[in-house]
Amino acid sequence: MKPLIIGNWKMHGSLAKNAALLQAIVAHCDAQKADWVVCPPFPYLSQAQSMLEDTGIAWGAQTVSAFSQGAFTGQVDASMLLDFGVSFVIVGHSERRHGLGESNIYVADSAKLVIEHGMNAILCVGETLVQKEAGQLETVLQEQLLSALKQIAPENAKNLVIAYEPVWAIGTGKTASQEDILKAHTLIKNILKEKDANFYNSVRILYGGSVKPDNASQILTILYVDGLLIGGASLDPQAFSEIGQCKPSF
Ligand code: 13P
Repeated sequence: MKPLIIGNWKMHGSLAKNAALLQAIVAHCDAQKADWVVCPPFPYLSQAQSMLEDTGIAWGAQTVSAFSQGAFTGQVDASMLLDFGVSFVIVGHSERRHGLGESNIYVADSAKLVIEHGMNAILCVGETLVQKEAGQLETVLQEQLLSALKQIAPENAKNLVIAYEPVWAIGTGKTASQEDILKAHTLIKNILKEKDANFYNSVRILYGGSVKPDNASQILTILYVDGLLIGGASLDPQAFSEIGQCKPSF
C-alpha cells in the first residue's frame, strides 16, 4: 500500500509563495509512489483547488468547527469546506488542543462532522513531554482516541486517519525514536482493535513530528506506520517530495 503523505502548512503562505510551492509539488510528487495531501490555511483552499484539481494530489483544511452553520464568529463549517473540494481535514492538532484549548469532546465532534460530510478526518493524538515522563502515554492515547471513536460509526472507518504526533517532537527537531513510534502505534492499533475490527483494518496511522528527508524512509519502515504528517518540511517542495519517496532529486 502506498504511504499517505500529508503536508500541514500551518499559518504560512501567500498567494505568490503558494503558487510556486503548489507548482513544484505537482511537478515532483509522484502519485504512483504515495497518496499526497496538502493543507494550506483556509483563505488559500480555493487556490489549492484550482491548482491541484485533476493532478492526483488532494488538499485539506487544518481544522473545522465542531458546530454546524450558525452564529459562530470566525469559525468554518464542514459543509463550507466541501464547496472548495476539500477531502481531508486535520482535527485536534496539538497546536489547537494545547494552544487554543480544544477539548477531546470538541475534537471528537469536529471529526464526526467531517466524516458525516463524506470527508476524511485526520485525528491528531499525542502526549506532551510531561505526560511522557510521567508514563501517561497509554492513558492519553486512550482518552484522545476513545472520545473520538465513540462518535464515528465503524462502517466509516476508512474515512478516519490517525496522526500520532508526540507534542515534544513537533517543530523541535527531536524526532521520536523507532521504539517510541512503534510503542505508540502499537498502542493505537490495540485500541482500534478493541473498539471494532473495521477500525483495526481500515484506519491509517501516520507519524508526525520533525520528519525530514533524512529520517522519513526509516520511519516509514516501522510496523503500523502508514504515512507521515509533515509540518516544516512540507513548505520545501524538494524535501516534501523526497519524504514521500517520489523523485529523489530535482
Ligand atoms: P514539524 O514537521 O514541523 O515538526 O510539524 C509536525 C506537525 O505538527 C505536523 O502537523
